[in-house]
Amino acid sequence: MNINGKAFRTIWFDNNIVKIIDQTKLPHQFIIKELKSVKDAILAIKNMEVRGAPLIGATAAYGLVLSIIEKNDQSFLKKSSEDLIKSRPTAINLKWAVDRMMKKLSGVNSEEILNIAIKEAKNICEEDVGFCKDIGVNGLKIIEEIYKKKKDTINILTHCNAGWLATIDWGTATSPIYHAHKKGIKVHVWVDETRPRNQGANLTSYELNEEGISNTIITDNAGGILMQRGQVDMCIVGTDRTLSNGDVCNKIGTYLKALAAHDNKVPFYVALPSSTIDWNIKNSRDIPIEERNSKELSHVEGLDKNNKLTKVLIYPEKSQSMNLAFDITPAKYVTGLITEKGICNASKEGLESLFK
Ligand code: MRU
Repeated sequence: MNINGKAFRTIWFDNNIVKIIDQTKLPHQFIIKELKSVKDAILAIKNMEVRGAPLIGATAAYGLVLSIIEKNDQSFLKKSSEDLIKSRPTAINLKWAVDRMMKKLSGVNSEEILNIAIKEAKNICEEDVGFCKDIGVNGLKIIEEIYKKKKDTINILTHCNAGWLATIDWGTATSPIYHAHKKGIKVHVWVDETRPRNQGANLTSYELNEEGISNTIITDNAGGILMQRGQVDMCIVGTDRTLSNGDVCNKIGTYLKALAAHDNKVPFYVALPSSTIDWNIKNSRDIPIEERNSKELSHVEGLDKNNKLTKVLIYPEKSQSMNLAFDITPAKYVTGLITEKGICNASKEGLESLFK
């Protein structure tokens, strides 16, 4: 998608270097960062310079490419794969991508391994672009249905950033919105700020602005009253891990939006590529929920009067805080899953009808 009218992807490989857009600096600074070692890739994931389930997976895949460039050795590669998997716990795409790469690379001779790794990491990226595009085409049908009845601007609420910045291109939750906009359907997006890291305000609103899509940032607690007032036609969110029973793990606060949507009979859709489905874990209580540094709550970053990025403390210094990064929305609150293969019920039968 576009930044300043120029098409970008979130990650690319150039001359044995991986390039990313440093998302910790957006929207105030647009910085392309170079990753030159597996450690750089691990830190980029941990520090959320790259984030969003599909992009974390792609970065891990390229992290293994960098590991081979650094030291072409099977035991170093294995250790790199283990360290990459540990870099963030919740999004299943990370393990999915590392396992897929390792399946291709384990035991391959040292002359061939680099080319095979580069090819597979590129395949993972290209596949994600295709999946996200198809999610858009499928999700567009739902927006068109609502538009046929309403014949006026469709108001869509989204949480966190499940936009193109969280994937390689298009996004998951935003892809149907981009497709609707390109088709001339009037859409307006309610963007949850998404405390504490503000992925909604900093990333989703930014990328929608760059594509000329009308949007309004709201506090994370505002969705309920907007739904009560009839100002939300549908919700679309992303997911970091969807269980085979349709339970959805996504950014903290998603669950409360789903409850409000259920109470107000607002359709609540979750958009995902199949790489986000965890077919193994059966009980959502077994999903590892990331707990991040509480300083992400107590400090906020923004531009000071000299246009310099500055971090300030906003809490009493002595107060304790807790920073759980994800929550679980039970399948019963999900109207449907929008995938690259079509739309299905959030249930075992629904997912199996498309994927098995
Ligand atoms: O902590 P983040 O910013 O990596 O969390 C991202 C999300 O929760 C997204 O909604 C999810 O990864 C889906 S991305 C298409």
